[in-house]
Order: sequence, then structure tokens, then C-alpha cells
Amino acid sequence: MHYFAYKGRAPRELHAEDVALRAIADAVGTPTYVYSAATLRRHYQVVDSAFGRRPHLVCYSVKANSNLAVLSLLAREGSGFDIVSGGELFRVLQAGGDPGRVVFSGVGKSELEIGAALDAGILAFNVESGEELDAVARIARLRRKVAPVALRVNPAIDPRTHRHIATGLRRSKFGIPVERAAELYRSRRRVRSLRFVGVDCHIGSQLTQLDPLRRAVALAASLYRTLLAEGLPMQYLDVGGGLGITYVEERPPSPLEYATAVVEALGDVPATVVAEPGRVLVGNAGLLLARVLYRKEEGDRRFVVVDAGMNDLIRPALYGAHHEVVPVREAPARKVAVDVVGPVCESADVLARARRLPALAAGDLLAVMSAGAYGMSMASSYNSRPRPAEVLVEGSRFLVARDRESYQDLVRGERAGPAGRRRRRR
Ligand code: LLP
Repeated sequence: MHYFAYKGRAPRELHAEDVALRAIADAVGTPTYVYSAATLRRHYQVVDSAFGRRPHLVCYSVKANSNLAVLSLLAREGSGFDIVSGGELFRVLQAGGDPGRVVFSGVGKSELEIGAALDAGILAFNVESGEELDAVARIARLRRKVAPVALRVNPAIDPRTHRHIATGLRRSKFGIPVERAAELYRSRRRVRSLRFVGVDCHIGSQLTQLDPLRRAVALAASLYRTLLAEGLPMQYLDVGGGLGITYVEERPPSPLEYATAVVEALGDVPATVVAEPGRVLVGNAGLLLARVLYRKEEGDRRFVVVDAGMNDLIRPALYGAHHEVVPVREAPARKVAVDVVGPVCESADVLARARRLPALAAGDLLAVMSAGAYGMSMASSYNSRPRPAEVLVEGSRFLVARDRESYQDLVRGERAGPAGRRRRRR
């Protein structure tokens, strides 16, 4: 569900809420990410209310879209945050997020990052190895603090998603095998700078089936129950993120079906559920607005060259991901099959392959849909292309939530080296 729709008199124009995308392109240029505030709010509320009366905390996974305006909107809705770096912690604090509702995930937290999270007073560290656990204990002891910790268990369950985003498989780098995790909790339970507050798991992203999740949560719940019975101060069972969205014809479970499955798998375990949704909150709340530069026809191959490329949105090139591409001005017929390609010097720079689109001409605007998650947050300036602007629409108004990068931004921090004597020209 989202608030991007064609509106007005024919030919109708694609709007974000009540703002015409054309108006944004005119004011801000292209390529530009456009987000809908009403969609973000709605998604948050649907996910949050799906857990009903079960005590729970939604910790939005910042990596999906880390723009300050998005974080601040979700913080005002009451969201907590799932972070994976000191940079994400910084963003959450800048956006006015509550550090007491932050969980810190990831296999490679540095000493600096652990220290900053302890100082901020986060809810829990989701720890992924014995060595990391000892590092957290040591850093906390030096600061005379007690670190709240959950161990991330690897349930060795196939989430049946794209192999690049499956994280709960036995061979993946994530988590601690569930049988090893129990020993680790027990062996460190007397460490005074640690407080074991929960169990964590996350099996993968873009999940469209609930069964793997049910099995993972049930495993984590059984460990939780055991540890609680042994007297550990357990409070949270973190079920990770991963709920999929519809890019084209996927039929993922609804947030209510998802939450119901989680709650059922937990059974009577008296834990507060922590969920770390990313994509489901922001994915369909954003699009990438681009402009056609050229048409190119070579024999039977037709290309539409646009001003957004794989550096702006890498998902098609990296995962073969499908994003719908639609014209901003509604056109009745979708006639020709074209490849929509970007300007980057790589054969993989194809945003959409063999799509039937209406006849397009230079200057026409296109929207790459479902680009709110892992779009801008994975953008780079490869080919020295300044990263796009980001716009947050709210009703009939819009905020430039991030300026387009400038050429100065591109070289910030660089230097051309010691100024040597110029070779004399002959
Ligand atoms: N929690 C943890 C520990 C995670 O690793 C992730 C995502 C999430 C939560 C949020 O998952 P979500 O609800 O968004 O599925 N770049 C890829 C997705 C990578 C996901 C990484 N971890 C993509 O564009 O599809």
C-alpha cells in the first residue's frame, strides 16, 4: 500500500501524495529519491499494531533507508532502531531517536562503536561471537558500565530468499550456532560487566514465506525459556527483520500474518518481542525519479538511457532485482520492449530489462518504483556521479531531505598530493 498515484486530468500525472513528481523534478532536478510520509507512517502503524497486545518494540532497521527525515518521522511514531554501525547510531541520535530503544546488530562492531553505544545507553547489543562478547565485556568494564546483551543465534534454517540476503544458513557468517550459544551464555553469566537480556535471531531479508521464520523463532524461544529458567535476567526476544514486499508479483504475508506467526511461535515465553523491520516500512514508500536522456536503437535492441544509474540504485545490477518502471505522464499503451539503462560505464548498469513501456522521448520522466529500501542507502558516487537528492513529501508539501551532492562534495577530504615542481613544457 502506498500513496503514489496518477492524478489530475488526462494525460494524468504521477503524484506522491498531493505533489506532482514533475514539480519535484523541476525544483530539485533528477535523479531524485522521493519518499511519502503518509506511506511511511501507515506502514509503521500497520506493523506496530500487528503485534496487538503482545508487549513488543519495533526497531526500524536503519540500513534500509537512513535519511534523517525518515528516521525522525519514525522516531516520532515511537519507533526504536536497529543499527549496525557507529554511523547509524550517530544518525539515530541526530534524528532525535531514543537510544534506550536501540539494538546494535552486526558481526564486526569496533571498540569505538561499542564504546559509543555504551555511552549512549542502548537497549541491547546483539552479539555474534564469543570474541565479540568478551570485547563488549572488557569495554564496558573499563567504562564501569554493564552492557545489556542478547546473543544472535544462527538457527541454520533456509529462509528461501535470494542467496545474497539469506543470513541464517549454517554456512553464513552470521550468528552463533544455537547449541553453542547456550554454552556461551552459561560460561559468561558471572561476568559483572554483562547483563544477558535476551536472545536474537534474523534469518534473511525479503521473506515471502513464514515457515522458516516460525521455526527460527521457536528455536530462539526454546533457548530463551531454558536460560530464563536458569535465572538469567531475560526480557527480549528479537526476531530480526526480513518481511518481504511486493516489487512486482511477490505475495508476501501481511504484517498481521507475520506478527501472528511470530507470536504463535513464541508461545507462552514471557518475552517482549523486538522486531527489526526495514524493507517493509520503507520499500514501497519511495521511488527513484529519473529523466530520459536518449533513445538508442540498434537493430532489434532498444534502449532508453536515463540519468539514474547503478550507482544510484544498485539492486538490479547486484541482485537481479526487479523494480517496476513507469512513466510519470500516464500513457495508454505499453508498446515497445526496451532496456532502461543508466549512464555508468558497466554492462551491468541496466535498471530494467525488456520492459514494455510507452514510447518515450528525451526529457520524459520515469519513476523506478519500490526504491525506498536499500536504494539511497546503497548508493555510491562511482563514475564520480554525485549521489541523488532525497525529497520527503507530506500532503501537498515537500522537503528536500538531502541535497544532491555537488562536485565539491565528491572531492571533500581528498588532496592532490605534495605540490611538486611542474615539468617544464618544451
Ligand atoms: N535485522 C538485521 C540483523 C539485518 O541484517 C537486516 C537486513 C534487517 C534487520 C532488516 O531486514 P529487512 O526487514 O529490510 O528485510 N541490500 C539487500 C538487503 C540486505 C538486508 C541486510 N540485512 C537488498 O537490497 O535487498
